[in-house]
Amino acid sequence: MQQIHISNLKDYVGQEITLQGWLFNKRSSGKVRFVILRDGTGYLQCVFFKGNVSEEIFDSADKLGQESSIEITGKVKEEPRAIGGFELDSTDLKIIQASQEYPITPKDHGIEFLLDNRHLWLRSKKQVAIMQVRHRIIKAIRDYFDERDYTLMDPPILTPNAVEGTSTLFETPYFDLGTAYLTQSGQLYAEAGAMALGKVYTFGPTFRAEKSKTRRHLTEFWMVEPEVAFADLDDNMDIAEEFLEYIVQTVLEEKDEELKILERDTSMLQNVKRPMPRITYDEAVELLHKNGVEFEWGKDLGGTDETLVSNQFDKPVMVHRYPAEVKAFYMKRDPENNNLALALDVLAPEGYGEIIGGSQREDNLDELLDRIKEHNLPQDTFEWYLDLRRYGTVPHSGFGLGLERTVSWICGLDHLREAIPFPRMIYRNTP
Ligand code: 4AD
Ligand code: MG
Repeated sequence: MQQIHISNLKDYVGQEITLQGWLFNKRSSGKVRFVILRDGTGYLQCVFFKGNVSEEIFDSADKLGQESSIEITGKVKEEPRAIGGFELDSTDLKIIQASQEYPITPKDHGIEFLLDNRHLWLRSKKQVAIMQVRHRIIKAIRDYFDERDYTLMDPPILTPNAVEGTSTLFETPYFDLGTAYLTQSGQLYAEAGAMALGKVYTFGPTFRAEKSKTRRHLTEFWMVEPEVAFADLDDNMDIAEEFLEYIVQTVLEEKDEELKILERDTSMLQNVKRPMPRITYDEAVELLHKNGVEFEWGKDLGGTDETLVSNQFDKPVMVHRYPAEVKAFYMKRDPENNNLALALDVLAPEGYGEIIGGSQREDNLDELLDRIKEHNLPQDTFEWYLDLRRYGTVPHSGFGLGLERTVSWICGLDHLREAIPFPRMIYRNTP
C-alpha cells in the first residue's frame, strides 16, 4: 500500500484519502468532534460531523485516549485557520489500538519524569521538532563535505589509546589484548585518512567519561571531524566559518516551521554569516579582564568565561592560539611563540559556548615524540600515528564539531539532553 503522509497533503486537496497515525489531541463541540492526528510528518485536524459517520464512530472519536493508534479516512480540504493549513472532512475511523492513560499529558511534568519516559516523550511536539532539526543538521553536515570533495571515512570505536586526555576514557576488557577504550574522537584516524585521501571527514558517536554534570556535557555524543592535508590554522578557520554558515542558513531556510514550534528567536542565527570574528586567546583574556573577571593567563576558558567572551559578539567567535599547556598533545606549537598551540575553538553566541575544537597538527616527528613523552602517553600504541610523520608528513589541520551542542544552540535548548534521542549522562543510561 502506498502511504500518504500529512506532509504531502497539498497533493491531495479534494480527494478522499486514508491516513495512519496517533491521536494527538481531541475536542468536542455539540454535533462536531475534532481529532488531531499526528503521523510524525505533521498534524492534521480531522472533523467528524454527527450524521456523516455512524453513531459508533462518532462516539469513539470522543472516547479515544491520547496516543491511540488510528486510521482515518476523509476528504482533504484547505483550511488556513487549522494547524498545518488543511483539514480532513472525515468519513471513517478505525482504531488500531485504544491507548489508555498515556503518561505524558499536556500538563507540566518534571524533567526526571520526562527523561524516564524518553521513549514516549519523543512523541511530543517539541521533541519531534528537535529531532527533525537534528536530522536536517546532519544532512547539511554531510552535504557540505560531500559537495566539496571530502571522503567520509569511518574510524573505529574500540581503540587502544586516548586522544583527548586520559581522564575521560571509558574502558572495556578486550579478550587477551588487555583494555580497549571507547573512542573520544576519530581524529587520529582521520589524520591517517587525510594522508591517504587528501580531505576526509569522520562522523559518528564519541565517548567521554565526563564527571561533570553540566548542561553542555554528555557521555556519548556525535562528532563530525574534517581533516585536510596541506591546510594550516588559517585554512582551518576558513573552513569552520563557511561550514557553520552553511549549516545555520540551511536550517533557517528549511526548518522554519520547526523553529517556530520551538519558539526560537532566530534573529541571532540570521547573523551566522562570514566573516566571523577571530581573536587570540590573549585577546579573549583581555576581554575577560575588561569585564572584571579575575582570569589567570594560562588556564583554559571555563563555561562562564566562554559565555562572557562570546557575549561580546553577535555571531560565533573563533578563539585561536591557546596556551599549549591546556591543550592536547597533537597540536602544533606556534612558530612565533612556543608556549602557544595552533589551536582553535569556536564559541557560539547566546551562552552556548564551545561548539568546535580543532587545531593545526604537529607534523614533525621529533616534536610529536616529545609531546607524547610530556603527556605520559604510551609510545608503543602511537607508533602507527608516528608513522604518519615518518612517511611523507605534511602540514595538516582539522576540527571537531559537536552535533548535540550545535542542535542545542540552533534549537535554543537549555540542555544537551534534549538534543539527542536517548541521552547518556553521568547519572543516566536508561531508557
Ligand atoms: O574540543 P574537543 O575535545 O576536540 C576533539 O575531540 C578534537 N579531537 C577534534 C578534532 O580536532 N578533530 O571536542 C570537539 C567538540 C567540542 O567543541 C564540543 O562541541 C564537542 O566536541 N564535545 C562534547 N559534546 C557533548 N558532550 C561532551 N562531553 C563533549 N565534549 C566535546
Ligand atoms: Mg575542546
